[in-house]
Amino acid sequence: MSGKPTIAIDGPAASGKTVVGKELASRLKSRFLDTGNMYRAVTWAALDRNIGLKDEYALQELAETIEIRLVVNSGSDRLLVDSRDVTDLLRRLEIDRGVSDVSAVSGVRRAMVPQQRAVADQGPIVMVGRDIGTVVLPDAKVKVFLMASSQVRAQRRHRENLEKGITTDLRQVSIDLKLRDTQDTERADSPLRPADDALEIDTDSLSVEEVVALIMERVERI
Ligand code: DC
Repeated sequence: MSGKPTIAIDGPAASGKTVVGKELASRLKSRFLDTGNMYRAVTWAALDRNIGLKDEYALQELAETIEIRLVVNSGSDRLLVDSRDVTDLLRRLEIDRGVSDVSAVSGVRRAMVPQQRAVADQGPIVMVGRDIGTVVLPDAKVKVFLMASSQVRAQRRHRENLEKGITTDLRQVSIDLKLRDTQDTERADSPLRPADDALEIDTDSLSVEEVVALIMERVERI
């Protein structure tokens, strides 16, 4: 193909979206946005301000008023909420546990989606999330839906935690992931599901390189 395509990658938690998306963006010299971090940022701000995670009105107001800014560095991207760098706080357990509730609030989504589209309007991008191919960028040239069994995803997340020096219980990780999957799939607004024209990839027995190669094949064919 000529030029770089917009690529939408969706899938459940720990299906490999971020690692695959970053690698694709680096190969295509494209930008990368993990939209999950925006919902995590709203969740962080809600907990920081003692806003109840079931208080839809207050969450909507919060999402409409905070400024979420992504600073792209050569080493690692930083995420700022009202100028405070919260990047290292977004993977905490309390955020993992609260973010599905926050992201299910339509008012929160209405505040986030236009910001995501505005980032995509600035040029080619690899964007990952739950509703990118279905809602945020329905015209994306390449759409991918990554899947993996819940056991494999729990093992991956457990291993990532250990690498970060966080000791977690594999069984608890698995329970938390399943709960988040159910909430993300069953919510009324923009539930997690593959777009009709998405390339669905089961990553259980594939390496990151193999998944990237499958997507690159699709990119080269458009
Ligand atoms: O990909 P992640 O685990 O960082 O996402 C955190 C949560 O945010 C996830 O449970 C669902 C929600 N999310 C969403 O609703 N829509 C997106 N585009 C991205 C994430």
